[in-house]
Amino acid sequence: MARGHMIYKAAVQLILPMLLSVLPLTHTQIPPRFTRTPTDQTGVQGGVASFVCQATGDPQPRISWSRKGKKVTNQRFEVIEFDDGSGSVLRVQPLRTPRDEAIYECVASNEAGEISASTRLTVLREDQLPPGFPSIDMGPQLKVVERSRTATMLCAASGTPDPEITWFKDFLPIDTYTHGRIKQLRSGALQIDRSEETDQGKYECVATNSDGTRYSTPANLYVRELRDVRRIPPRFSVPPMDYEVMPGGGVNITCQAVGVPMPYVKWMLGTEDLTPEDDMPIGKNVLELTDVRQSANYTCVAMSTLGVIETVAQITVKGKLIIQTDTDISLHH
Ligand SMILES: *[C@@H]1O[C@H](CO)[C@@H](O)[C@H](O)[C@H]1NC(C)=O
Ligand SMILES: *[C@@H]1O[C@H](CO)[C@@H](O)[C@H](O)[C@H]1NC(C)=O
Repeated sequence: MARGHMIYKAAVQLILPMLLSVLPLTHTQIPPRFTRTPTDQTGVQGGVASFVCQATGDPQPRISWSRKGKKVTNQRFEVIEFDDGSGSVLRVQPLRTPRDEAIYECVASNEAGEISASTRLTVLREDQLPPGFPSIDMGPQLKVVERSRTATMLCAASGTPDPEITWFKDFLPIDTYTHGRIKQLRSGALQIDRSEETDQGKYECVATNSDGTRYSTPANLYVRELRDVRRIPPRFSVPPMDYEVMPGGGVNITCQAVGVPMPYVKWMLGTEDLTPEDDMPIGKNVLELTDVRQSANYTCVAMSTLGVIETVAQITVKGKLIIQTDTDISLHH
């Protein structure tokens, strides 16, 4: 009995750690689950229809599209994948009736399982459209926006009942709820704040009501770099003044310059730099003179990548002038 217990104990001591070391390697697989299934659509001949299908699972499920059990392969049928691999869009353009009318199936599969969702496409000729069928009164227009600026793509649609407006970019639906920067206005327009290069693309507005779905003509949005219009060469906003100083007196000479980018400002006396090169103020530099004994011309220099400008402040010591003119005594009274 004791011996059997020992063997059992040894087995547990050996096998349990082995099991534990193997366990993390056995991957738990999760069968596919739809996060978005395609919805039935009624389109117009010559127009567009697109079906959206997304799924999660582990590993990430593959999405495929079929019609009557066969993979869809046709020049007018395009499958566009979401960037994050979460699914795809089946786009049909231009729509043909009656040959495109069918049940389409989205199949999501991974090692753990397979699921499918089906959807119906109906295509009407213009002369068959019910009176309430959506129409696009004003679609988005080609637009160029400077990076970081706001771009608004307009869309106005009518129909009975009032159509709901959604947006597609490069044939993929725009989720305006999860992108704080991109929002749909009450009017239906799409507003893109702080535009980025990734916003560049082809935009379509889509109007849907119970009668059917109508796509606008696509419009391109171009995002370009900020132009250099805001670059301004330096200029003096407060040029230094000339001063007359009593011998041994002091004066502060202010020199101020502006520009885009803001210029550095330094003081020079002749060819001598009075402002340390590695500690040059930007925009404004005050030269403090104390115990002035000699008249001198101080040069204020403003510089940026767009240019260098300079101006002179004349500091005149009164006494010297008076000595020159021999009138120092009278002045000291
Ligand atoms: C110059 O500026 C300094 C510092 O602000 C100040 O202490 C000094 O009195 C000024 N001198 C004159 C002559 O205004
Ligand atoms: C300063 O410049 C003026 C004008 O160029 C000149 O007349 C004057 O002699 C100069 N003063 C000194 C001290 O160099």
